[in-house]
Amino acid sequence: MPLRIAPSIIAGDQSRLGEVVSGITAAGADLVHLDVMDGHFVPNLTFGPSLVADLRRHSTLPFDCHLMLCEPERYVEAFVRAGADRISVHVEVPGAADAIANIRRLGRTPGLAINPETPVAAAEALAPLVDFFVVMTVHPGFYGQTLIPEALDKIAELVHIRRALGRAADIEVDGGVSVDNVGRVVAAGATEVVAGAAVLKAADWRTAIDALRRGS
Ligand code: DX5
Ligand code: ZN
Repeated sequence: MPLRIAPSIIAGDQSRLGEVVSGITAAGADLVHLDVMDGHFVPNLTFGPSLVADLRRHSTLPFDCHLMLCEPERYVEAFVRAGADRISVHVEVPGAADAIANIRRLGRTPGLAINPETPVAAAEALAPLVDFFVVMTVHPGFYGQTLIPEALDKIAELVHIRRALGRAADIEVDGGVSVDNVGRVVAAGATEVVAGAAVLKAADWRTAIDALRRGS
């Protein structure tokens, strides 16, 4: 399976997000990664369901919503209505299980995100309920940070859990992925990568996406 690339639109010009979404779609992205931040779970704010709904008509690619929220269960339905296809919630928040059940009930693809300092053991109970994992390789909140290499060790543990469960869950690596490290990220077992700065800050988005695929 070729590596799937999910550009994160928060690294683009926030006053032109419609063009960012249509631009990355034309440039060959596989998914549109939408980072939703509440200013509590992470020390930053981004956007909510109404922006996602407006962006929906700018692309036919799957919308991959990464909810960095303390209470994701309160917002799942709104993001589904807005057009999210995949929704990941953080294992560190108490409402994660309810949110995952809701995502599934509403016919969308649930994912579980794991912060760099969180052990994989914390994700074991919810692992059978999700279709993908998001291994955070930066502390969430901002694009353009440097990948924390130790966080990649978690992928092997997740691959092991996945095998034991007999499931084909994707493993998405999120944070600091670049052409310089994507080979290592994929060798560790990632099937998808989020790329904020590596794509959106590049002069040519298609060239940047191709370079990530080639580098893998
Ligand atoms: C961090 C976000 C990431 C980030 C990725 O909180 O979840 O998706 O935007 O951006 P880069 O690839 O620049 O680290
Ligand atoms: Zn993200």
